[in-house]
Amino acid sequence: MRARRSWSKVTDAAPRKAELLTLVSAAARVADHSSLRPWRLIELRGDDRRTLGAAIAAAEGDQKPSTKPLRAPLVIAVVASYRPSGKVPRWEQEAVASGVAHVLSLLLDEAGWGVFWRTGGYTRSAPVAAAHGLGPDEDLLGWLYVGGKPERSRPERRKTVDARPFVSRMPSAAAAPDDLTHGRDAAAANGKGTKGDKGRGKGKGTGKGTKGKGRRGKTSKPPTDWAAKARKAETKARKAASRARKAEAKAVAARARAIDGPARADAAPASDAQP
Ligand SMILES: Cc1cc2nc3c(=O)[nH]c(=O)nc-3n(C[C@H](O)[C@H](O)[C@H](O)COP(=O)(O)O)c2cc1C
Repeated sequence: MRARRSWSKVTDAAPRKAELLTLVSAAARVADHSSLRPWRLIELRGDDRRTLGAAIAAAEGDQKPSTKPLRAPLVIAVVASYRPSGKVPRWEQEAVASGVAHVLSLLLDEAGWGVFWRTGGYTRSAPVAAAHGLGPDEDLLGWLYVGGKPERSRPERRKTVDARPFVSRMPSAAAAPDDLTHGRDAAAANGKGTKGDKGRGKGKGTGKGTKGKGRRGKTSKPPTDWAAKARKAETKARKAASRARKAEAKAVAARARAIDGPARADAAPASDAQP
């Protein structure tokens, strides 16, 4: 991907239909809200490119047909074909069509073909739309010019993009630390997955204390220590059970006294008994 570049000059070699279909099928796997497939591609080969040249001339008010489309043996028109949808607006559908074209250009490049995405002031003109047979709910996103990569082309390097200026946080989170989440490697090394993270985040006590003061200016209750509460309840239950056992023993003894009462009560201990 880092090595990809656009090829403004290409040779007459071009991918055949079968190869193109394979790559388009892969490019079609881009994210697509509601799977509307709101796009189509039109292959321009041979004289099709002259038809486009004439349409460009008509759009531009030129007498002579434009020779621009002849710069590559294969010119692929990228069409956004908007589908009726209450859920997916046109801009999302255009994003899908654009995604397909970007991915296709990457796949073509990877397959060894030179690609250049071109547009012009005439791209959405009536003569150009008519030449492509576009419907009322279709717009052109330009053309991928495709051909062979010239063997003896000058090595062209593109600057490495410094990603930092392009990735930021929301204004409200500007002072927050960069990484609030575990990276995949860190999570694997700790043996902690997202489950653990969730548990920590959702802990009963974590959010409550931060709510601040109540209506009367009192600070809110400290977080509940449920484990301590459970221990207390268990001790209470144990003591109650012990009291119940003692009471029952007392009752048994009282019943026994009531039955054997006086005899037993008057009876002298065995050791004191007279022979
Ligand atoms: C939708 C679209 C339309 C473009 N139209 C043109 C164009 O008409 N002429 C042009 O020189 N570059 C155009 N470009 C940019 C080139 O395709 C190319 O990306 C640019 O020249 C930078 O070269 P690189 O891809 O090697 O970095 C367009 C790109 C996109 C995505």
